[in-house]
Amino acid sequence: MPEAATHERTLVLVKPDGVRRALIGEVIARYEHKGLKIVAAKMIHVSKETAERHYEEHKAKPFFPELVRSITASPVMALAVEGRNAVAVVRLLNGATKPWEAAPGTVRGDLALAMTPNVVHASDSVPTAQRELPLYFSEKDYVSYTRVDEDYL
Ligand code: CMP
Repeated sequence: MPEAATHERTLVLVKPDGVRRALIGEVIARYEHKGLKIVAAKMIHVSKETAERHYEEHKAKPFFPELVRSITASPVMALAVEGRNAVAVVRLLNGATKPWEAAPGTVRGDLALAMTPNVVHASDSVPTAQRELPLYFSEKDYVSYTRVDEDYL
């Protein structure tokens, strides 16, 4: 028996490198084509404070300063993405964090080569999504609508 799907909401950031490389549309299209729904979207310049809160689990890592510098360098596109097993599906579509290990067909497999500028960030679990989404969106930012193909998704 396949595991039951759960309806989830996850955070995606098209990182500064992805925005500056004009890859926003390319990235969003992959989620939309898979059947996921964009329920909030915002272009923002991430503050140092937000970046440090976002990446707090990496605070002790040697690459932490570079991570914060990189995510605050220029605007990101923040997305709230919803659908069946959205957390795992988005991570699968994004590919491995190390782009040189990411499978072809994934965002990083097709579009990235470096580790910190790796085009996208996505929450790694439902609890992480619940912690990360409010860093970028308030309740009033979310919209509700029905995709015309929802019967098939
Ligand atoms: P992201 O999904 O944004 O979550 C944490 C980020 O840290 C990750 O993507 C990478 O961009 C970055 N990262 C993880 N490990 C390393 C590392 N060893 N060196 C540099 N950057 C890293």
